[in-house]
Amino acid sequence: MSGSDELRFPELLQKSIVDGIRIETQVILKGQYDTAYKLLMDSIDSNVTPCLVGPPGVGKSLLARKVAEDTGRGFYEVFFDENMTPSRLIGAFDPALVVRKGRAVESFEPGSLMRAMVEGGLFVAHELNRATEFCQNSLIAPLEERHYHLYPFGMIKASDNFAFIATQNPIETSGTYRLSRVLVDRIGCWIRLTYPDKETEIEILRVNAPAFNMAEKTINKIYAIVNDTRQNSDLEIPASPRAGIYLTRLVDRYMERFEDDNEAIRFFAPSVLSKEMRVRDPTKTVESIISEILEKRLE
Ligand SMILES: Nc1ncnc2c1ncn2[C@@H]1O[C@H](COP(=O)(O)OP(=O)(O)O)[C@@H](O)[C@H]1O
Ligand SMILES: [Mg+2]
Repeated sequence: MSGSDELRFPELLQKSIVDGIRIETQVILKGQYDTAYKLLMDSIDSNVTPCLVGPPGVGKSLLARKVAEDTGRGFYEVFFDENMTPSRLIGAFDPALVVRKGRAVESFEPGSLMRAMVEGGLFVAHELNRATEFCQNSLIAPLEERHYHLYPFGMIKASDNFAFIATQNPIETSGTYRLSRVLVDRIGCWIRLTYPDKETEIEILRVNAPAFNMAEKTINKIYAIVNDTRQNSDLEIPASPRAGIYLTRLVDRYMERFEDDNEAIRFFAPSVLSKEMRVRDPTKTVESIISEILEKRLE
């Protein structure tokens, strides 16, 4: 593998450092996304904290990132779970630096929330409802008063540009911590996203696939299959737009290998769609439900 003229890992790593990840595909701001985007912008401008609520894969992260890009804010994010700690949000002293410089600002290694506060960035709290009580408590002052008491420095005041967006899955599908009343009260704007309407979702499939050439009838079949999983009451978690994008990409790219689009969809759909699904009825399996849907849509 590693010839002498090939780059070694340190050089490759150096070359791979980028300023930030930018959105590379078009963001479709139609239907629910148009409303959600405006609500996000308006809340942030008025210092009202918004929370995007919706099932996985409907575009919560993308919208938050778009707000950061469009407002020129640095992007900071944290995915909450039981291992996340307040010190990863706020920061901590680097023991080696403390030995040399004492408990000075130079020895402080900031967490992502503190950086966003000080640098005036956008902080995205993903899956806020999975944050432990400890973490929830450390969010209250930054949200309510836009400051944080940081020992031994004292009160740290957030930049005027600091903004905060929370996201979470609907409570029904996430058996985790509940948000404390105090924190809920500090989130002022609840923005619900669900599965998009047909026209919007087909556009999302096209810009992400990039299936600009895919026949109308093929992309319609893919949409119909994905949408059927959402109408099926046996499925607790149906296929998301993200799953639809994966299926569209594969079918688009490898179409020539198959007799026709039906055959291509039949080949890829079970593996792509079954991943994120969950069945309610224990006598059925994800596979049997998918094959019923495929049979109906691909005759
Ligand atoms: N309005 C949209 N326009 C373009 N692509 C979208 C849109 N909404 C979602 N997507 C795409 O769908 C996929 C899932 O979106 P993501 O933001 O990761 O969902 P979530 O954070 O809700 O799980 C991503 O590939 C994203 O680019
Ligand atoms: Mg996300």
